[in-house]
Amino acid sequence: MTLPDPAPALLRLLVNGETRVLPCAPNETLLEVLRYRLALTGTKQGCDKGDCGACTVLIDGQPALACLTLATLCEGKNIWTVEGLADGPELHPVQAAFVRHGAAQCGFCTPGMLMSSVHFAESYTGSEAPEHGEIAHALSGNLCRCTGYTKILDAVAEATLEVAARRGAPGAGEEGGS
Ligand code: FES
Ligand code: FES
Repeated sequence: MTLPDPAPALLRLLVNGETRVLPCAPNETLLEVLRYRLALTGTKQGCDKGDCGACTVLIDGQPALACLTLATLCEGKNIWTVEGLADGPELHPVQAAFVRHGAAQCGFCTPGMLMSSVHFAESYTGSEAPEHGEIAHALSGNLCRCTGYTKILDAVAEATLEVAARRGAPGAGEEGGS
């Protein structure tokens, strides 16, 4: 017996600060909705099975793999994708640090790396500059299969201090964080 395709229902999301209401079938992933219904192709479809992190977005401020997230479970939630990082022409401090350090690599891994890095920088509560090991742990779900991670770690360490300074976190006034 062939089951009929599930009927799309309306889904309401807040995507990069904008309310979006769109049809969505029960079996669609958040990644499919972002890329194929909303044309937000910055979020990448890499492995499509939870291994690579290329599809990482923030859902209510927490990093999540969009390829493993059913879109219907995101009803009413706040979704932040790589398209929402810059404020007009002004890059997010993490994006700017990626540029300064040459950390932006291919288009597949970079969006997910950025989203995990932004979450790390914005939730960092330390009073000194983060260690590379700490950043590597935060980015451990984001894989690059072709190059090193050193420039990414340098960029995130620098950007974390900048983000902390912007919100007035103690100990964040000086680069080096001491
Ligand atoms: S595309 Fe989602 S983890 Fe690879
Ligand atoms: S996978 Fe993007 S640079 Fe290696």
